[in-house]
Amino acid sequence: MTQQHPTDLADPSDVADQGTIAGKVIAITGANSGIGAAIAEHLAQRGASVVLGARRADRLAEVVERIDAAGGVAFGLEVDVRQRADVARLVATAQERYGRLDVLVSNAGSMAISGFDELRQDDWDDMVATNLTGVLNGIGAALPVFRAQGSGHFVHMASTSAHRIVPTQGVYAATKTAVRVLSEALRQEAGPDLRVTVVSPGMTNTEWVRSAAADDDAASYVRSIAQPPSAIARAVAYAIEQPAGVDVGEIIVRPTAQS
Ligand SMILES: NC(=O)c1ccc[n+]([C@@H]2O[C@H](COP(=O)([O-])OP(=O)(O)OC[C@H]3O[C@@H](n4cnc5c(N)ncnc54)[C@H](OP(=O)(O)O)[C@@H]3O)[C@@H](O)[C@H]2O)c1
Repeated sequence: MTQQHPTDLADPSDVADQGTIAGKVIAITGANSGIGAAIAEHLAQRGASVVLGARRADRLAEVVERIDAAGGVAFGLEVDVRQRADVARLVATAQERYGRLDVLVSNAGSMAISGFDELRQDDWDDMVATNLTGVLNGIGAALPVFRAQGSGHFVHMASTSAHRIVPTQGVYAATKTAVRVLSEALRQEAGPDLRVTVVSPGMTNTEWVRSAAADDDAASYVRSIAQPPSAIARAVAYAIEQPAGVDVGEIIVRPTAQS
């Protein structure tokens, strides 16, 4: 008979503080497509009530219908994350419909790839407004709610572009690097009751990857190695399902073939 080491014994506090997804109220931006839709469907399937925001209402309604049909709980509303009031409305809707907000997944993103010489300044402005200001609007809307509740979890979508800088992705990478930086500062200020997680996907097979430079050889290579959005949904679920006192800081999920 093997002797049981003391550290193998179940810690009673582990048993009392099992993390879970079922029953949580989770708001997700950019939830009508790609990674956001996959996160919404995965978390709803695991018993969360999801409140979904994006600009294209028809596409959002399709995701809500799919979740309804599968027996989940979802509500969608038009949200432009560049607008502070829209993100505040997303958070308020979660509270009004489901009584609270447990997690805000700031996933909405704009990815316009171009060299600086092209001077696509409207694209630059849009990436800053969506990827950076959009996340700040989420913090502005949810932080007071989380403080009042004494609990809450921010999940911010960054990118492997924030880890490996390459030409033509300068502005995009800068916004995602900023998301990582502000998330770490938020984590340090958050105290023991709130959690902050950054998820950094590598190439993921979404509308953006499928449409970007459709005729380009590089784009077809990207499409051939891209991972499914469900890989990111599972990573988000992993961070959320941890017990309350456990904060997953950052998860990088990339295709094995990505350099
Ligand atoms: N796919 C990848 O390879 C990859 C890699 C690394 C990181 N990411 C990140 O993952 C996130 C999701 O991207 P994806 O690949 O799933 O792209 P996607 O399929 O194009 O989805 C983007 C989502 O963001 C929403 N969105 C865009 N601008 C918005 C705005 N101003 N307000 C509200 N919603 C907005 C879109 O809906 P509407 O247009 O209807 O608003 C859509 O739901 C982004 O943050 C992206 O940077 C993706």
